[in-house]
Amino acid sequence: MFGLGFLLGGNFITVVVAVLVVTIAFWKWKYQYWKRRNVPYLEPRIPFGNLTDVIRGKKFIGITLKDIYEEMKTRGWKHGGIYTFTKPTYIPMDLDYVRNIMTKDFKYFMDRDVYVNENDPLQAHLLNLSGTRWRNLRAKLTPTFTSGKMKAMFQVMAESQEGLQKMMHEEYKKNEPVNIKEILARFTTNIIGSCAFGLECHTLEEEDSEFRVFGRNLFKMTRLESFKRLFAVTFPEVAKFLDLSFSRKDVVDFIMNMVQDTIDHREKNNYTRNDFMQLLINLKNNKDIDGDGHDGKSLSMDELASQALVFFAAGFETSSTLMTFALYELARNEDVQETLRREIDSVLDKHDKQMTYDSIQDMKYLSQVIDETFRLHPPAAFTDRKCVEDYKIPDQDVVIEKGTQVFIPIMGIHYDEEYYPEPRRFDPERFTDENKKSRHNYAFMPFGEGPRNCIGMRFGLLQSKMGLVSLLKNYKFTVNKKTMEPLQYQPRNFVLAAQGEIWLNAEKIN
Ligand code: HEM
Repeated sequence: MFGLGFLLGGNFITVVVAVLVVTIAFWKWKYQYWKRRNVPYLEPRIPFGNLTDVIRGKKFIGITLKDIYEEMKTRGWKHGGIYTFTKPTYIPMDLDYVRNIMTKDFKYFMDRDVYVNENDPLQAHLLNLSGTRWRNLRAKLTPTFTSGKMKAMFQVMAESQEGLQKMMHEEYKKNEPVNIKEILARFTTNIIGSCAFGLECHTLEEEDSEFRVFGRNLFKMTRLESFKRLFAVTFPEVAKFLDLSFSRKDVVDFIMNMVQDTIDHREKNNYTRNDFMQLLINLKNNKDIDGDGHDGKSLSMDELASQALVFFAAGFETSSTLMTFALYELARNEDVQETLRREIDSVLDKHDKQMTYDSIQDMKYLSQVIDETFRLHPPAAFTDRKCVEDYKIPDQDVVIEKGTQVFIPIMGIHYDEEYYPEPRRFDPERFTDENKKSRHNYAFMPFGEGPRNCIGMRFGLLQSKMGLVSLLKNYKFTVNKKTMEPLQYQPRNFVLAAQGEIWLNAEKIN
């Protein structure tokens, strides 16, 4: 009896050892991929490859990629390879390679490497789609974001700006440091809620309004969820087999109800408004974006709701973190803050003291401050592409295989001393017209680049500029000691965001 048990136990151990040996051999063989393809690579570690801290939920992926970029740069490489688990990822560093991938040879890299579960509702949005479906939808949605449309939406946005003034005044009266990150998140949630969904969402008056709670929870990711997402992108076939899903019932119900109610209300009352929702409704009703011609193919209800969700998700936190970082840097650099305030005052004086679409466009130094903030704290610290057809790197004996994931190391490039001496220093002078001209165009890409860049760039910039002008013309900011310094970034989030709150002292300006 015991002898049989021992033998079985012995067999079991042999099998486990054999499986382990084969697995390790497989992993090691996988980790030869970049060597076989003649691409320099950083030594990966079994089992997570080069993103161990990210997979363990300890470090934000964008920061890890910046560190990887810096390591590769010190070795003098023009590009390099890494691994996520066993999946090879290509990282172009030479800015001409980056330009080729994002723009010149875009047709080889038009997709993103995402895992989409076909059964998930709200997945058919622009960020996720690939191939012809992406191209058609992008063409349909592009007219939503022209400067003419932004100008028309300005009034809807301006109403939120008045609400921001009131909220800031209430906070100021408490005579305590202000939690600027939360104030700005409420402001952008209100704008995007009203522009994407056409709703009065009360995030400015109520701290825990339904919309703000929804926005706060939308990006919350447990360690397990963050692991699951990376796993699904790395092993899409296994994820498909396991039917992994990332849709949350609360998110789907909230968006679907919201969108349905809004459409019903507008269609019943024959009511239209200058906002994204109206433009999407026009597309649903098989009209072009301006509501008159027909473009042949309409948006389904799910597609409409998916776009509204992605506008909401991509639109509020990117801009609120940008403004938060800008005010933080301005609070630490009082001379820059003063110069900017002088510009705001003088431009507004020329425009009858009114904040208008045109007055905001006239603020050149404001753009420099925003660009320098984007350089130091890019909300999207990296972006990705997927190679859709074998591609030869022009001056190398290297072919990137169809199906390869590509990471564009935005933050790594933004901190590269070759383009930005003393990269950690906040200095808006780097973005004067003259200094911009002296750099490669792809040395700065907070909104990505090429045909698949950020579709909402104009909207993001406009709401951010509006928020900053509104606050800076009335308040002077300094850093309060409750703020964690040096600044740390949240390890698990979709965008680069500060860990903890950013507390600023606000002093009223007469
Ligand atoms: C400060 C604000 C923002 C920043 C920094 C930002 C950044 C980015 C970046 C880096 C990308 C990827 C681009 C690429 O891969 O080349 C992106 C894509 C995208 N963004 Fe933004 N974004 C901002 C605001 C917005 C807003 C306000 C909206 C919508 C209202 C929006 C909607 C989108 C969408 C739909 C995509 C996917 C585009 C596609 O794949 O065709 N973004 N954004």
